[in-house]
Amino acid sequence: MVEFTLPANSRVKSGKTVRSASKEAKRTRRFRIYRYDPDSGENPREDVFEIDLDKCGPMVLDALNHIKNDVDSTLTFRRSCREGICGSCAMNIDGRNTLACLKPIDEVKGDVKIYPLPHQPVVKDLVPDLSQNYAQLASVKPWLQTQSPAPSRERLQSPEEREKLNGLYECILCFCCTTACPSYWWNGDRYLGPAVLLQAYRFIADSRDEMTGERLDNLEDPFRLYRCHTIMSCTQTCPKGLNPAKAIAEIKKLLVERRS
Ligand code: SF4
Ligand code: SF4
Ligand code: FES
Repeated sequence: MVEFTLPANSRVKSGKTVRSASKEAKRTRRFRIYRYDPDSGENPREDVFEIDLDKCGPMVLDALNHIKNDVDSTLTFRRSCREGICGSCAMNIDGRNTLACLKPIDEVKGDVKIYPLPHQPVVKDLVPDLSQNYAQLASVKPWLQTQSPAPSRERLQSPEEREKLNGLYECILCFCCTTACPSYWWNGDRYLGPAVLLQAYRFIADSRDEMTGERLDNLEDPFRLYRCHTIMSCTQTCPKGLNPAKAIAEIKKLLVERRS
């Protein structure tokens, strides 16, 4: 294993380079990874790890696990399911927010650049602080709310009513969309952002929910909803192929219909 320091670049200082691949390795790749530990008092840096791709699986998360397990145990990132279900491995890879467990290394040309989700405070390395996002999610009460007495069995839906939840219920709350939204970058303290608004619409669209009026009242606000300027970055980046911009447009449409 060889360690040396690269010259600094303009934005994040270059850190160490670790070459763990042996000379015999046939398939090597460099991973440029953002490192930051607020407790250290040091500025963020970019470490480079050159690894043997035959020592890990095909996804970016496999490479990160290999680096953490075999090269540098201090590298910090979130992951759990490694199946695109939990949303915890969301990060910025090759300039785009996505899930590390669903991103094939081979899709990236050249060095694989890995940064945390943008415009969020960093807890450590690739772990963003999503406290604000979770508080905003709680504010839209993302659960079924009813007033009528509970039926003896479940609350029923027709196939057509259930169909309306398709494209909404699949959201895994990874916040790739919200952290790709320029409006959220500048007004994240007051604008709810696409992930939370998609969740809000998921319950507005649910025929079993009985608080639609209150939900719309809660959203009718120049910042909470109307900071969306239909830039569409959210929809372009969603690793689950969902369309948060459309959900936001549906909420706006319902508010217009309610006024007329
Ligand atoms: S469509 Fe709206 S929510 Fe999506 S990126 Fe643009 S401004 Fe943000
Ligand atoms: S809409 Fe897509 S990008 Fe946004 S939180 Fe849900 S799954 Fe993630
Ligand atoms: S580890 Fe769960 S979505 Fe990637």
